[in-house]
Amino acid sequence: MVILGIESTAHTASVGIVTEQAEVLGLATDMYRPTAGGIHPREAANHHVAVLPGLVLDALERAHVRPSEIDAVAFAQGPGLGPCLRAGATVARTLALGWDRPLVPVNHCVAHVEIARVLSGLDDPMLLYASGGNTQVIAHHSGRYRVLGETLDIGIGNFLDKLWIALGGTFPGGPALEKEARLGAELLSLPYSVHGMDVAFSGLYTAALAHRASGAARPDLAYSVEVTAYSMLTEITERALAHRHRERVVLGGGVACNERLRTMVKTMVEGRNGTMFAPPPSLCVDNGAMIAWTGHLALSSGLSVPVEASAVQPRQRTDLVPAPWRSGGALGVRPAPV
Ligand code: ATP
Ligand code: FE2
Repeated sequence: MVILGIESTAHTASVGIVTEQAEVLGLATDMYRPTAGGIHPREAANHHVAVLPGLVLDALERAHVRPSEIDAVAFAQGPGLGPCLRAGATVARTLALGWDRPLVPVNHCVAHVEIARVLSGLDDPMLLYASGGNTQVIAHHSGRYRVLGETLDIGIGNFLDKLWIALGGTFPGGPALEKEARLGAELLSLPYSVHGMDVAFSGLYTAALAHRASGAARPDLAYSVEVTAYSMLTEITERALAHRHRERVVLGGGVACNERLRTMVKTMVEGRNGTMFAPPPSLCVDNGAMIAWTGHLALSSGLSVPVEASAVQPRQRTDLVPAPWRSGGALGVRPAPV
């Protein structure tokens, strides 16, 4: 089986072609980059409308696959920016109707998690999904993904992007801040906002800008923000492991590209005699392959829809959608290691 997946939830338009063994045959991606400020939804959607037809052809060519060999068309149904989601959904509906193939809606967050999980080879890991709009610690239980902890305000990636733009940079901020942080030496004091299983970033944002206004060097600030924010994520992930008696963690989402975050989580997990896995960066950030792969999983559970029932869902949370392709009660408490 070969599935074509379309991603268009925010800044990235991407088409991926994947087999039922999760082999990525072709991936074609084009990211909208605002010249100043954050993402403008309508401009991003116009970008996606302009590039998606070419990306479909590109992905097919890279995969050496003819349209007649595509068995299903998956698309990101939500969460995301309405105009961007509609651009991708329209292309997906057109292809599904034109090729007479099933149309499969996919939750974008679940797709980040599933591509990371299949690449890890781990059956039932704890998942840290750290991306632009989302920051969640996730585990599967009784037919769907459950959010054990998450951000109380903005997603970590949006926080990094917003901060970097306020410091004079351009979108996306996460990778640029990572480079800048490598030059930092002094650890500045910043608010550490962990509330049980949850985190918050707005206090960190305000305090970082206050440091800058009082003359803190940008590399020191970048370094301190990374250390503080990623410590918070590492702590809530460890708490989830401790409560659930787990020892395996899989990272997903764009911020999982970050080397410092990877190292910090890995150090924590290995301290518990566990293992950590993070996908290659091209499959951490938004990509059509994760939509195609999750489309395959969904289709294996019969989750295709007619075009008239394929409306986009801009607010579709991770824990709102069924994920029945996974069996078992994954949160069952096992004895703690002695
Ligand atoms: P969501 O998945 O929550 O809808 P999104 O789709 O907008 O968010 P992704 O493509 O998953 O986001 O991730 C993009 C985010 O990842 C951006 O905020 C970007 O700054 C951040 N990011 C990318 N690379 C890095 C990096 N090396 N370090 C830190 N952050 C990074
Ligand atoms: Fe994403």
